[in-house]
Amino acid sequence: MLKIQLSQFSRDQEKSVTDLFTKVFAESEGEAEGEAIGSLVSKLINTTAQDQLFGFIAQSDRSDDNRLLGSIFFSSLFLCKSSLPAHRTAFILSPVAVATLEQGNGIGQQLIHFGIEHLKSRGVGLIFTYGDPGFYSKVGFSPISESLVEAPLNLSYPQGWLAQSVDGQDIEAISGATRCVAALNDQKYW
Ligand SMILES: CC(C)(COP(=O)(O)OP(=O)(O)OC[C@H]1O[C@@H](n2cnc3c(N)ncnc32)[C@H](O)[C@@H]1OP(=O)(O)O)[C@@H](O)C(=O)NCCC(=O)NCCS
Repeated sequence: MLKIQLSQFSRDQEKSVTDLFTKVFAESEGEAEGEAIGSLVSKLINTTAQDQLFGFIAQSDRSDDNRLLGSIFFSSLFLCKSSLPAHRTAFILSPVAVATLEQGNGIGQQLIHFGIEHLKSRGVGLIFTYGDPGFYSKVGFSPISESLVEAPLNLSYPQGWLAQSVDGQDIEAISGATRCVAALNDQKYW
């Protein structure tokens, strides 16, 4: 199996990371989706406060080949403060992509675990995502009802609203609206 190296995203990788997302989503879901996700990533990088965004990359571990193989972003999800212990913060995983020819080799799951461990070490308590429960259940996510925690926008696929606790505490009901960062605050992604 291909050996990979996982690390934190840095700003000088913006172009290669944006290109990766554009290409992977164009190949899996068509040109328009590729453009939409590429511009989402660019907007996340350029409009999100530093402490509200974490990005990670996977590269080939070979000394003669440091190709970018995958990338993932997590951004803040703002929950109603009055219904949460003050220190408990939440992030949304979105988006994640693995180079088309490298998919199915475990890179996506390794990237997600790596990102989650990093967020845990920063004291993050809850991680949400919106996607295929079949895939995300492999990395600890479970469906969550909006009666427990509302999604920040209207969901076209409510079964795709997923969460996991990473601080050992239960996911308690959180009253009130939630808010995502500006880049994700667009109904076309939900
Ligand atoms: C989804 C994605 C990130 C997964 O990364 P990956 O490296 O291919 O996945 P892994 O090899 O770690 O895991 C593969 C497992 O997940 C499953 N899986 C992969 N993509 C899936 C998908 N879109 N839906 C459901 N299951 C999926 C595979 O069936 C496989 O299951 P198995 O181990 O039981 O055989 C990658 O396939 C990708 O970039 N897809 C296109 C973009 C995308 O859909 N991104 C996610 C939405 S933001």
